[in-house]
Amino acid sequence: MTSEIGLVGLGTMGAALAMNIAEKGFDIAVWNRTTQVTHDFHAASGELASKITPTDSLEDLVTAIRAPRAIILMVPAGQAVDDQIAALRPLLGPDDLIIDAGNANFHDTNRRAREATGPFLGIGVSGGEEGARHGPSIMGGGKREYWDRVSHVLEAISAKYEGTPCATWMGEEGAGHFVKAVHNGIEYADMQMIAEIYGILRDGMGYDAGAVGAVFDRWNEGPLRSYLVEISGKVAGTTDAATNAPLLDVIVDAAGQKGTGRWTVIEAQHLAAPIPAIEAAVVARNLSSRRDARAEGEVLFGAAPRPMADGTLTVDAMEQAMICGKILCYAQGFVMISAASDAFGWALPLPEIARVWREGCIIRSDMLNDMASALTDDPMRNLMFAPFFSEKLKTSHDALRQVVAQAALHGIPAPALGSGLTYFDAMRTHRGTANMIQGQRDFFGLHGFARLDDGSTGQHGPWAH
Ligand code: 6PG
Repeated sequence: MTSEIGLVGLGTMGAALAMNIAEKGFDIAVWNRTTQVTHDFHAASGELASKITPTDSLEDLVTAIRAPRAIILMVPAGQAVDDQIAALRPLLGPDDLIIDAGNANFHDTNRRAREATGPFLGIGVSGGEEGARHGPSIMGGGKREYWDRVSHVLEAISAKYEGTPCATWMGEEGAGHFVKAVHNGIEYADMQMIAEIYGILRDGMGYDAGAVGAVFDRWNEGPLRSYLVEISGKVAGTTDAATNAPLLDVIVDAAGQKGTGRWTVIEAQHLAAPIPAIEAAVVARNLSSRRDARAEGEVLFGAAPRPMADGTLTVDAMEQAMICGKILCYAQGFVMISAASDAFGWALPLPEIARVWREGCIIRSDMLNDMASALTDDPMRNLMFAPFFSEKLKTSHDALRQVVAQAALHGIPAPALGSGLTYFDAMRTHRGTANMIQGQRDFFGLHGFARLDDGSTGQHGPWAH
């Protein structure tokens, strides 16, 4: 009974998190379904070995932790989490806390929190293996009193932004996993926009991978400074050892996904929250996996006339387009969080969310600090209307228009940038075209419409009689 905390599941993320916890000075007991994995992990933990207690059974794990216990689950999302809870809970005391730190669907976390026969938290952990090992961004959900019991550990292991821990309680039940899902949706859109810029540089402007990498490296010194731009520069600049070709040129152009982006899009539809850039990114991943169909299409229709004449686009215009697209994508994500906050009665802390994303997580960037400031001024305002960002949009939307238009004219798909532009234009059009939709709905279904002139509702056209 010496360990402060326990951890179940020593896969890549679990092992990294356990090492991080031990390194921050907490005694931790660990257990993995395959006992050998537990012992191999302990043997490889070097000077942290004395802080780590390997255990061979769940009973031993429980015994090794001081009561009231806290046990982190790092097992694959889905049924494995339910199975693990079912196996663990009967061994625990009434005050012992189970913390699911995997990438759970927040609906599952809601259910688990409601069904739990003892304390339960669902926390979103972002930052990949490196983050888990040296400082992730942590988004907590569940009863505040449970969060408060372990927040000293979670804050200690989290990333720090200028000394401030990137670990925050977001709200009840699945709030933490919900915020993590939106984080991943934004992650998809940010990645997709970078990939679209790469496509224009490669196919429109004839840049080789090294030159693309140099562009991203340069952008990473300016307003777009972010982990994703940084790693994109590194990916593009890497040479494949086997072929000596740029690694990017030998990677198959079909993107995988575990589903978090998709969950975000599905939830956005339920909430009627428009997140077109994120939707476009999920669609683009789905489309990317249809390689055979795309090959067939290229034979049938011919490849698009992709090379652009010199000077059609400048790299500076593309940087401005990326800035514009990124602001619009994040604005959409935060509006969705705000919609969920209302719909689920969570009071999600929008400025805090921007703050915990400033370090440790995959979407960390300088711009998130400005977003945190803008959301502190007015948490309910769409970021695109916040003075700092509206000024940026005013000076960058022309560039986004140029990039999207030229991409379209040259047959280069740019769905996320394009949907960002469409969102921008829709959001600055007072008189839209849904009056036609309302007319159509009334014509075929007598659904009624509101009138502009006298403000009356439930009106019908002459076809009603
Ligand atoms: C993070 C990442 C991490 C992981 C996701 C995305 O925040 O650390 O989002 O959770 O990379 O699972 O994976 P997919 O691209 O496979 O959906």
